[in-house]
Amino acid sequence: MINRIIRRRKQTASSAELLDMNNIPHHVAIIMDGNGRWAKRRGMPRAYGHHAGANTLKRIVIAATELGIKVLTVYAFSTENWKRPVDEVTYIMKLMDEYLGKNLLELNENNVRLHFIGDMSRLHATLQQKFIAAEAEMANNTGLVLNVAVNYGGRLEMVQAMQHVAEDVRKGTLLPADIDEAVLSRYLYTAPDNDVDLLIRPGADKRVSNFLLWQMAYAEFWFTDLCWPDFTKDTLIDAILSFQGRERRFGGLK
Ligand code: IPE
Ligand code: IPE
Ligand code: MG
Repeated sequence: MINRIIRRRKQTASSAELLDMNNIPHHVAIIMDGNGRWAKRRGMPRAYGHHAGANTLKRIVIAATELGIKVLTVYAFSTENWKRPVDEVTYIMKLMDEYLGKNLLELNENNVRLHFIGDMSRLHATLQQKFIAAEAEMANNTGLVLNVAVNYGGRLEMVQAMQHVAEDVRKGTLLPADIDEAVLSRYLYTAPDNDVDLLIRPGADKRVSNFLLWQMAYAEFWFTDLCWPDFTKDTLIDAILSFQGRERRFGGLK
């Protein structure tokens, strides 16, 4: 047993040492999935898994800053997650409130710039206000940009971007002929750091579930069967090592 622990420690140390610190993905996105199954396997209610998942997020944000990731976008609640039982939705909303209350100070101390992305108008007014206050408090931080996607959908993001574009065209500040990829990008929630370099999805499913559709055009994908509550810094390192072993061609040739 002890041997096994020592062996595991050695492996961990060596995988971190293998990282090329000059080739850390700039923008990492994570679909924090598998909380419910993780809890069910332990004979616990799904809420228990969400609670554990929130603790994982705390650890991974610190790990991301330590590894030199510049932008981390995490999927916390999708536009489709409203289909879940009202008790579960209520619990997740309460958890976000608690998470902010418990971790704001530490995020701030770590120079994290928090940003919520998604359509906040459907959230409870007090939660919206807390999000706005937290963003304002960290607005001048210069470290990791942490985008937390709440009531987020990639399609909704594009619809809202189109609405804002149409509005600017109507006002005469934008000409239809001037709309190109660069202009449209500026209307996305994640602007100016749109392009995702590495997309990570734990929880065994291999799909994007309406996350960052525009931003993932040339993202590298990494999946793991581990559920989000079991995700650790070492898992993140494994994902980055895989990223570093790939050849990104962006449609060109080597
Ligand atoms: C992800 O975990 C968290 C949210 C979608 C809010 P799930 O709740 O989807 O967990 P599984 O996929 O059912 O195990
Ligand atoms: C995606 O997970 C959304 C979040 C992790 C917040 P889901 O569990 O909602 O996705 P599907 O339903 O398996 O595609
Ligand atoms: Mg899920």
